Amino acid sequence: MNDITEIRCIGICTGGGDAPGLNAVIRAAAKSAILKYKWKVIGIPDGFDGLIWPERSFELKLKDVSGILPRGGTILGTTNRGNPFSYKTVENGREVVKDISDQVIGNAAKLGIDAIITIGGDGSQKIGLELFQKGMKLVGVPKTIDNDLCATDVTFGFDTALHTATDAIDKIHTTAESHHRVMAIEVMGRDAGWIALEAGIAGGAHVILIPEIPFTIQNVCDYVAARETYGKRFTIVVVAEGINLPPELKALSRGGSVGNLVGDAISLCAHKEVRVSVLGHIQRGGSPSPYDRVLATRFGVTAVDLIASGSFGKMVCLRGERVCAVDIADAVGHLKTIDPAGELVRTARAIGICFGD
Ligand code: F6P
Repeated sequence: MNDITEIRCIGICTGGGDAPGLNAVIRAAAKSAILKYKWKVIGIPDGFDGLIWPERSFELKLKDVSGILPRGGTILGTTNRGNPFSYKTVENGREVVKDISDQVIGNAAKLGIDAIITIGGDGSQKIGLELFQKGMKLVGVPKTIDNDLCATDVTFGFDTALHTATDAIDKIHTTAESHHRVMAIEVMGRDAGWIALEAGIAGGAHVILIPEIPFTIQNVCDYVAARETYGKRFTIVVVAEGINLPPELKALSRGGSVGNLVGDAISLCAHKEVRVSVLGHIQRGGSPSPYDRVLATRFGVTAVDLIASGSFGKMVCLRGERVCAVDIADAVGHLKTIDPAGELVRTARAIGICFGD
């Protein structure tokens, strides 16, 4: 354990795709570092890229984090391309990949930064782990709207994305019913179906297609036809962006929206009018929900406490009601996906939701 007096200054950076609540973490960590521990706080812009050009970093004072709690995005900026261990750059017109991690660690020291809080998803935490293994004092805070980090019950950003997706499904419901259409809504989540499943249940979707459960278009169309037999001439289909396409659709895929592919296929097979909405980055934006603001604040404060107690190489997490910490090494590399036989899927099936299987 390090002595608390060793820390005089911390850096904060945000990496990977943004998520609602990043600013709430920055605010909480900066406030607690300044007010509770009297540390100096440095904002590192655009993930670890900010340490390639240390002159771009700036001190975060209390006034700088005032008013940012309800703001989406990150005041520090972010990138999902800045890996200092394989940094892409162009030299003499050719792309070269370099390991600039020593430069990044050296620049943090030049800025007087004793320890860093890195707020990011699986990719950013992996980079954080490597920097920690090279001697950087570092603590991680998990973020992602996808909720796919296995070490924490929930990541902040997920709840807000869920609200946004559910609100969209609610709105699409009324127009689908009026026009007797099949409406497909594609949601984010990468290789995990959490947003699709939870927003689908919350929004009263009839079909939910997720990466964890293989499906066929025929099964979906049979379900659409079955609904018609009892007078339901509309169907809401939530499609997770990471679904595994059945072979006939995979052959047609050009890497675009899977929602459109699924929608076209249902239209052909069910002879129904289908409309598709791809929600996209709307799910990452906007003001964080109260739940995400509170979780982000708890994470930010706990990250600072971990630094104060010399507990580096850790990532804060939520376990049940408690915010605690795990080794970053145990937190990265394996994603949390939906158990197809789990309670949430069984609940959905019990109320007649179709997974296309
Ligand atoms: O991981 C968050 C996420 O929004 C995913 O749900 C989505 O697949 C991806 O990021 C989109 O990334 P980008 O902003 O690079 O398009």
